[in-house]
Amino acid sequence: MLAPGDKSISHRTLLFGALGTTPMEVRNLAPGADVRSTAACLRALGVTVVDGEASGAVSVRGLGPAGFRSPASVLDCGNSGTSMRLLLGLVAGARVSCTLDGDASLRRRPMRRVLRPLRAMGARMEGEGGPDDERAPLCVEPVPTLRGTSHRLPIASAQVKSALVLAGLAADGETRVREPEQSRDHTERMLSAWGAPVHVQDGEVVITRLMGSLALPRSLDVPGDPSSAAFWVGAGLLVPGARVAVRGVDVNPTRTGFLSVLARMGARVEAEPEATRAGDPVATLRVGGGQTLRGTEILPSEVPSLLDEIPLLAVVASQASGETRVTGARELRVKESDRLRQLVLGLRAMGADIDELDDGFVLRGPVQLHAAEIDAADDHRIAMSFAIAGLIADGETVVGGAEWADISYPGFFTALSAATGGAAELDG
Ligand code: S3P
Repeated sequence: MLAPGDKSISHRTLLFGALGTTPMEVRNLAPGADVRSTAACLRALGVTVVDGEASGAVSVRGLGPAGFRSPASVLDCGNSGTSMRLLLGLVAGARVSCTLDGDASLRRRPMRRVLRPLRAMGARMEGEGGPDDERAPLCVEPVPTLRGTSHRLPIASAQVKSALVLAGLAADGETRVREPEQSRDHTERMLSAWGAPVHVQDGEVVITRLMGSLALPRSLDVPGDPSSAAFWVGAGLLVPGARVAVRGVDVNPTRTGFLSVLARMGARVEAEPEATRAGDPVATLRVGGGQTLRGTEILPSEVPSLLDEIPLLAVVASQASGETRVTGARELRVKESDRLRQLVLGLRAMGADIDELDDGFVLRGPVQLHAAEIDAADDHRIAMSFAIAGLIADGETVVGGAEWADISYPGFFTALSAATGGAAELDG
């Protein structure tokens, strides 16, 4: 099994590619709809993004930080919060006027967390709704320049941090960003590797204006997405007799919380190092099925490192003996769906002993899961997590809205069907 390209690194590769002027060839770009949304928005801003159909590579050629043009139409971010928030940082100081919008789920997601600090830097942008609750569609107007500003983020968010780093590259003076916990650090790592004035000092990201354009590599090979690989690791662990190997998985330490928590639960997941890709460590993950697991406590400080894997972790924890408790994960309520709600509703429908907390859940296992009709709630990670639950439930589990997997992992259900000899199938 080969993990598809990492979604976070793929968005960033395209966005940062737009800050250079030389072409960059990108292999293994994340195949999902979210990254296609970023590509389409960049094209509308004047960036060349070409799908090399035969080679499977995508090439991006930007115009440098001062080269963006005001798009003729709305920038449609689809379902992608990462596209919307990072693009806001990119356009804040780019002297363009534009409107960013998205689908019904993205229109529900909070945008004030990024609009407010960007406005503190002098950006002109506003959303719909009240001043305390701004949401898309978002209107951006040009400003002559931005001011470097120190930000202390109230919540750990790689999207907000990245937006502020991008705005800082177009600001006079120094911008600083401090977050309460370390979120994924791809933005800092990639930008500083490509010559941008971005440094990490005592846990704070320090940014000054980018003079000229970024020094892009000629080509880049995106490592596999650990959040997509996690579904195979979960399936490998839970299905008796299964043996799974996922190659090419990014194991950047800001993304491996799921693996650390599994190890604490008693799981043996072997990580065999491969060559570094895009500056990140990469490994083949190997796991064998039917392992004995014990419950564990996931602390708020660990949550950012496994944020997107928590729905799947809940499925895994339903098979562990004793209690698993997750707290400090309120952010899950404002993802593509209210993921805490959806995972509790779905697992309870399958017979799990789970209580919802305001910022997490408490689950007691192990229990035999029963087949149920699950609503994916238009959320790719809920769809895929419950597909894995369905593999170990008695009877036939139906995941309504399974096609939402295409947001991050097109082909997931085909691969699952092939891997399970047809035990999982996409209908219609
Ligand atoms: C992402 C950051 C995370 C994560 C999302 C992708 C990114 O969100 O949930 O899927 O690429 O920056 P936060 O902004 O809450 O950290």
